Amino acid sequence: MANRVVVTGLGAITPLGVGVTPTWRNLLAGKSGLISTTTLPDYESGGWAQIPSKVIGKVPEGSINDYKWQSQDHFDKSEARRLALFTQYGMVASKEALEDAKLHNLEGIDKRRFGVAVGSGIGSFHDVYENSTQFSQSGYKRVQPLFIPKLLTNMAAGNISIKYGLQGPLHAVSTACATGLHAIGDAYNFIKNDYADVMICGGTESSIHPLALAGFARARSVVTDFNDDPQAASRPFDGSRNGFVLSEGCGIVILERLDHALNRGVKPDEIYAEIKGYGLSGDAHHITAPMETGEGAYLSMKMAVDRSAISPEQVGYVNAHATSTVIGDRAENNAILRLFGDKATGVAVSSTKSSIGHLLGAAGAVESIFTIKAVKDSEIPPTLNLDTAGGHKDDKADNFSHFDYVAKVSKKKELDYALCNSFGFGGVNSTLCFGKFRT
Ligand SMILES: *[C@@H]1O[C@H](CO)[C@@H](O)[C@H](O)[C@H]1NC(C)=O
Ligand SMILES: *[C@@H]1O[C@H](CO)[C@@H](O)[C@H](O)[C@H]1NC(C)=O
Ligand SMILES: *[C@@H]1O[C@H](CO)[C@@H](O)[C@H](O)[C@H]1NC(C)=O
Ligand SMILES: *[C@@H]1O[C@H](CO)[C@@H](O)[C@H](O)[C@H]1NC(C)=O
Repeated sequence: MANRVVVTGLGAITPLGVGVTPTWRNLLAGKSGLISTTTLPDYESGGWAQIPSKVIGKVPEGSINDYKWQSQDHFDKSEARRLALFTQYGMVASKEALEDAKLHNLEGIDKRRFGVAVGSGIGSFHDVYENSTQFSQSGYKRVQPLFIPKLLTNMAAGNISIKYGLQGPLHAVSTACATGLHAIGDAYNFIKNDYADVMICGGTESSIHPLALAGFARARSVVTDFNDDPQAASRPFDGSRNGFVLSEGCGIVILERLDHALNRGVKPDEIYAEIKGYGLSGDAHHITAPMETGEGAYLSMKMAVDRSAISPEQVGYVNAHATSTVIGDRAENNAILRLFGDKATGVAVSSTKSSIGHLLGAAGAVESIFTIKAVKDSEIPPTLNLDTAGGHKDDKADNFSHFDYVAKVSKKKELDYALCNSFGFGGVNSTLCFGKFRT
């Protein structure tokens, strides 16, 4: 018998705040964490001013007492210098998640059966940029000895395992924007197949850098139509969607073998949700563009539902990957429609990227947390800025008339099962199915 795997702790850092509680509260209240680059102190000197896209999602700076971020609340100066920002986010969100799961003192826990699977899509963009510049301008001696270890995408996972002495599986997937979801899915498989009892898993990203934004702008992936109204810029499924918003943050989930959690005294009503199934596929089509029909997305959702041994009509909510790009949202919409067929009416589909933007390698982890909270609290977060679903001139309007997109306002709904989708450059498609925990 495969092990049952449940969620016992959550931690998050997002443009809506530091911590799961403020993030979830702001999300349900319909708040947006998106800002204009014109408000950044280095707008001119840093090179932001040349870039046609002006909207980003940044973790708010300030004291942890106001649910904001500053390194000195968590690390002393010399420690902070040695840790890239994405690693710092990973360590701080892991601490929150461990405390939430009442695992932080690790008493009586077998650390050889406790692992870490935390990935990043890009790693430390800042370190690469600065050291490249230094090397080119001033030569070999200006390259810092910690340059390579600091930038590696698996360093958040490495530093988390060192901090808590965890000797179980140490893993860090990097599949672009599907990283966070793959990390949770892979950790689920480790526990299910008995490689570990407990896993700290998720994704972390901190690549808000003018060169990163310039790259996405040159690829025509990021929004340019809403520079004067940043909070309106991310509008998944809407007629005037025009590209995604580059954002940052971290999502960490504690996964645990069900009987391990119960044996150490976790009460059934403290369990957030159970992972029922995991699906992965490749579009095998193009490095950045989806197939019109959303073939890859359909296959990963279908696999997640089949492996959960449920039928699509038992799914009440889909947290869509929908980044607010014209063709990506359409393809995913078509894929969801194909999965549900004539059972589509009544399924809620929302994209929380409308509030927080696209957290790249952290997106799938933070959105998994939102899906888990929706299942646990029976409340679905909204799709902000949605005026006309499928209103783009090349959309087939009828394909957008079947779902409840939870436009603008959150909604109460009992959920037995919910899906979370996450897709990435390279043709990656992945889905997790979460179920309400029942003994
Ligand atoms: C280079 O990399 C190191 C280590 O990651 C970092 O501390 C430093 O700030 C980077 N920048 C420069 C200009 O050396
Ligand atoms: C994290 O890793 C860095 C090397 O990249 C190391 O210098 C540092 O001591 C580690 N910090 C912790 C808290 O594990
Ligand atoms: C509408 O959705 C169906 C079902 O997924 C799909 O086969 C079809 O290609 C879609 N049409 C357009 C124009 O997107
Ligand atoms: C599947 O992944 C590809 C990879 O880039 C992505 O572009 C596409 O949007 C995904 N499929 C759908 C239907 O969204």
